[in-house]
Amino acid sequence: MKQNEYHNPVLLKETVDGLHIKENGIYVDVTFGGGGHSREIMSRLGPDGKLFAFDQDKDALNNAIDDERFTLINENFRYIKRFLRFHGIRKVDGILGDFGVSSHQFDVAERGFSTRFDGDLDMRMNQDGELSAYEVVNTYEEADLRNMFYLYGELKNAPKLARAIVAARETQPIKTSVALKETLMPFLPKHREHKALAQIYQAIRIEVNQEIEVLREFLLQTKELLNEGGRISLISYHSLEDRLVKRYIRNGMFEGEPEKDFFGNVEVPFKKVGKLVVPSQEEIEVNNRARSAKLRIAERTNMQ
Ligand SMILES: C[S@@+](CC[C@H](N)C(=O)[O-])C[C@H]1O[C@@H](n2cnc3c(N)ncnc32)[C@H](O)[C@@H]1O
Repeated sequence: MKQNEYHNPVLLKETVDGLHIKENGIYVDVTFGGGGHSREIMSRLGPDGKLFAFDQDKDALNNAIDDERFTLINENFRYIKRFLRFHGIRKVDGILGDFGVSSHQFDVAERGFSTRFDGDLDMRMNQDGELSAYEVVNTYEEADLRNMFYLYGELKNAPKLARAIVAARETQPIKTSVALKETLMPFLPKHREHKALAQIYQAIRIEVNQEIEVLREFLLQTKELLNEGGRISLISYHSLEDRLVKRYIRNGMFEGEPEKDFFGNVEVPFKKVGKLVVPSQEEIEVNNRARSAKLRIAERTNMQ
């Protein structure tokens, strides 16, 4: 399969430019996918440069780059520090993240990520993961389903959706995406069913893959891993993710405000580089998946 058929990389040049690549530096791409961003990084590395990439999806292994400077780690990036240490790496010069799901994952019906197909409820990015959409839909308490739809789907009618699922599964388990769609259809706003369904799927996917916890754990490790002057270049696709990235860059934490020193200065581990970057209209026209992308770039300071 051609790399662009697996996934067409979003904001390719902008994201890799953001890393400010040093020829012989050490870099990490935590969301390898089809390897579009990784290949661009490799093209800018010299003979002693190194790239480590992560992807928890086994399918991504087929896209591995055959180059001795490149290592692909089939693990969750929530364990980034641990696996880099296993490879003898304690500090790096840049980390790229292009979060969410690849086009390949969306396009394979059995993976259950897309509202377009009928299939088993799955949505695991890691095919061996313990929690699937089936468990979420069929075993979660009504209150947990409600919170999930509120928080991760930003759905106003979360209580109705949660109640409908609980009522339907009393008769028989909800096994497929068509069964889930039929259960929820009466509660979706008229003429906006597709958008609401996409938000419902997003909420379940975030829950199945624990995306928010994983992102928090990952971000906290970036400050320990980066050399002074090292960069993070991170693309988010929904507001929950982007909010975490933005707050972390600004404050070095997710809630509250950082402490001020004696002189009233705040000590934060990152300095924002440039403004928020979004794709051009031309890019969105050729790659619709780019439409919700938000790129933030930051540099490690010498603060704690
Ligand atoms: C949007 S795609 C990345 C596409 C890639 N930049 C490219 O150019 O092809 C996101 C990829 O990250 C992987 N992924 C998402 N969350 C992950 C996590 N927590 N750990 C490891 N891989 C993850 C997904 O399996 C998917 O392949």
